[in-house]
Amino acid sequence: TLASAMSPLWPFVLAAASGILAIDYPRPRSSTLHQLTKQLLQKYHKEVRPVHNWTQATTVYLDVFVHAVLDVDAQNQKVKTSVWYCEVWNDEFLSWNSSMFDEIREISLPLSAVWAPDIIINEFVDIERSPDLPYVYVNSSGTIKHSKPIQMVSACSLETYAFPFDIQNCSLTFSSILHTVEDVDLAFLRSREDIMHNQKAFLNDSEWELLSVSSTYNILQSSAGDFAQIQFNVVIRRRPLAYVVSLLIPSIFLMLVDLGSFYLPPTCRARIVFKSSVLVGYTVFRVNMSDEVPRSTVSTPLIEVFFTVCMAFLVLSLSKSILSVKFLHDERCSQQEQTLLCFRGDADADGPGMDPRAQRAGVTEPPVCQEHQAQSGALKEVWSQLQSISSYLQTQDQEHQQEAGWLALLGRFDRLLFQSYLVVLGLYTVTLCSLWASWSHL
Ligand SMILES: *[C@@H]1O[C@H](CO)[C@@H](O)[C@H](O)[C@H]1NC(C)=O
Ligand SMILES: *[C@@H]1O[C@H](CO)[C@@H](O)[C@H](O)[C@H]1NC(C)=O
Ligand SMILES: *[C@@H]1O[C@H](CO)[C@@H](O)[C@H](O)[C@H]1NC(C)=O
Ligand SMILES: *[C@@H]1O[C@H](CO)[C@@H](O)[C@H](O)[C@H]1NC(C)=O
Ligand SMILES: *[C@@H]1O[C@H](CO)[C@@H](O)[C@H](O)[C@H]1NC(C)=O
Repeated sequence: TLASAMSPLWPFVLAAASGILAIDYPRPRSSTLHQLTKQLLQKYHKEVRPVHNWTQATTVYLDVFVHAVLDVDAQNQKVKTSVWYCEVWNDEFLSWNSSMFDEIREISLPLSAVWAPDIIINEFVDIERSPDLPYVYVNSSGTIKHSKPIQMVSACSLETYAFPFDIQNCSLTFSSILHTVEDVDLAFLRSREDIMHNQKAFLNDSEWELLSVSSTYNILQSSAGDFAQIQFNVVIRRRPLAYVVSLLIPSIFLMLVDLGSFYLPPTCRARIVFKSSVLVGYTVFRVNMSDEVPRSTVSTPLIEVFFTVCMAFLVLSLSKSILSVKFLHDERCSQQEQTLLCFRGDADADGPGMDPRAQRAGVTEPPVCQEHQAQSGALKEVWSQLQSISSYLQTQDQEHQQEAGWLALLGRFDRLLFQSYLVVLGLYTVTLCSLWASWSHL
């Protein structure tokens, strides 16, 4: 046949064809890089842990750079961070003699083509928008470098008690999800001092400041086996200045204004108006600022407690003012009405347009008002009138004494309230200052 007749010619035909191709296009297959990659992956099995002797563990070296703290959610106890993560391990089947391959020392290989450790972060709740980087770097002695940025949401026990002077300690624990320490071991890529004080990669302009990243290696013993773990404790500190300016100082100003209202006389009605406007102002302030203070179900921020105590004081002193003014006002009103009625009784006795209030009062006619109705000049009657006047004066005197007693009591209460105000403000200032001091010492 034709094919069998042509068979001795095939090599020439192929050579001619490849010669034509070589003229037109550079051939990727002949490049050293291609040959090396092909040779490395030809007999490679990514399913097998890359060691010659199975009793040897593959050691994965880890490194973490904290890049930014993006969000701290105290209510849900979550922290969103952006970290640069790097893992390095040795693959005994991916090494070559670089002098045989054009001195190529490092090549990149697809991550999907090589064996990779299954290391996860134990605390993660959500991996957010981490780019999928498809390549790893391999050098001629078989060391594989895989680094990637991770943006993740991790669970963290957040302590909001000292807000806004709070320091949070969140840990990131790396461990293999399946392999025990006999198969996959972990180690640090850098020295722990370097990891501890590396703030170079950290974005400094956010609300949070990176204090330190301490790291520990330990072996977790469980029924499924012993697992190697590496824990990074990321310690971050809040920058409190914005909160001091927007929360603390205004609330202290409002309290000082309220403290000033104690200089008004306790029975003055302007005090009620004043105090209620302070209360309204305080409420508006708190509603405005409610988003700023973190809400945590575990612990209440001290500042929230202080706001509530301030509110309670405002309400207490306002209700005290209302009580005292109402009480004294009642007393005076009844007295004034009685004296007024006397004059009115005189004027309106024969007047056509009678005041309905005076009419009603006329039915119960107070004893003094009966005076003008007395017609005769009989001494007895005068005597009885005098007696009634004296008894009325006596009751008035008693009422005055009662009133004076009430006034003294209210005055004492007022002073007590003022003093407790001062004590609370002082305590609060001392606590805040000590929190601030402990914050700045770290
Ligand atoms: C594997 O390594 C162990 C010690 O590390 C050694 O005792 C054993 O002989 C080695 N096995 C092989 C097949 O080389
Ligand atoms: C690498 O290859 C060169 C030449 O081919 C040889 O001389 C050298 O010994 C080799 N190195 C190793 C580590 O095998
Ligand atoms: C490959 O990388 C590792 C770790 O960085 C290094 O120790 C080793 O010397 C490198 N090998 C070569 C041939 O450069
Ligand atoms: C952070 O927490 C870990 C344990 O959870 C502890 O070992 C470490 O000392 C803490 N760091 C600071 C600065 O409090
Ligand atoms: C952040 O601040 C620290 C110390 O204040 C400094 O060492 C570091 O270089 C700063 N980093 C950036 C990115 O500005």
